[in-house]
Amino acid sequence: MSTPILLCPTDTPDPSVIKRAGRVLRDGGLVAIPTETVYGLGANALDPRAVASIFAAKGRPSTDPLIVHVDDLAMTACVVDGPFPAPANALAEAFWPGPLTLVLPRHASVPAAVSSGLPHVGVRCPSHPTAKAIISAAGVPIAAPSANRFGRVSPTRAAHVAAELGGRIDLIIDSGPCEKGLESTVVSFDGDMALVLRHGAIPLESIAHHVTVRSVDTTTDVARASPGHDERHYSPGTPTTTVIAGFDPSRAPAGPVLYLGYEGEEPVLPEGWRFASLGSRLDLTAIAHSLYDALRAADTGAPVRIIAELTGESGLGRAIDDRLTRAGSSRVAKSVADL
Ligand code: TXA
Ligand code: MG
Repeated sequence: MSTPILLCPTDTPDPSVIKRAGRVLRDGGLVAIPTETVYGLGANALDPRAVASIFAAKGRPSTDPLIVHVDDLAMTACVVDGPFPAPANALAEAFWPGPLTLVLPRHASVPAAVSSGLPHVGVRCPSHPTAKAIISAAGVPIAAPSANRFGRVSPTRAAHVAAELGGRIDLIIDSGPCEKGLESTVVSFDGDMALVLRHGAIPLESIAHHVTVRSVDTTTDVARASPGHDERHYSPGTPTTTVIAGFDPSRAPAGPVLYLGYEGEEPVLPEGWRFASLGSRLDLTAIAHSLYDALRAADTGAPVRIIAELTGESGLGRAIDDRLTRAGSSRVAKSVADL
């Protein structure tokens, strides 16, 4: 069985497509939905069987919690228990609809499996018109992880979803490439303090304009780390090594290696190495937009190894560097000897 792909252009959404997607979701089916960050694999968040089918289709361990998507603040009433704490309110006001996930007390109507048994649930109100319209048509909150096989690169186009999940899900809605290209920023709360559990499309600096915030180092602060946000995430199939910004590969051994670096900064490469640009380090928004495309393209050129250089930048650079580091299994080489 192949999965139908229905076109739904962002500026001229097709009401019949929206209606069909909403019905499939309400009836317990799985629908891949475009959002402003990446494509999500949606199911009715209040239906335990539908939620279980998300984990099965992705091959995702049940210990990795899902984000619940709502069409507006009113819909959070059956997702989040009690009123939002003040800093969550401030962030929702500033960034919703948009690429921000708030981790808040889980309402009893949300099955425990959604948040892997944790008392808190991740909730986000996406800004993508197709996502919003489909959630409204379904009339229920929609649990949706990124629509890729577990541990692989997140999909930013419908074709990526079809390649990994075609035949395993009911419907794919195609609204073209995702604007941001990186997942939402995930934030939890410790009293008045906001904690960034996953860097994402909203930079830490923007969040700091509204609340007191600190970033959790998921490699050292394991107790606070976002569950499921493990080191094998966001990996291409080809073995990938991450290197520091400004790395000098010139004395590395020859071989069929692809070096992912930055526009106008091609280093001297050993014999057999190829260079591909992730974009200009001066335009992190553009790098984020096409990062997963670049990782997928790198994979198809049949190198035996990918070497990806960090941006070393703050702002969106934190999220880009987080994904590049995870693509390299969380090890960062500082010199050729570390490769
Ligand atoms: O942009 C996005 O966030 C995309 C789109 C589809 O909305 N979704 C996404 O979902 O990236 P996923 O499942 O690939 O990543 C969700 C991550 C989890 O791995 C975990 O790190 C964090 O969000 N998360 C979700 N619920 C949580 C909870 N209750 N407590 C802590 N972290 C949570
Ligand atoms: Mg994911």
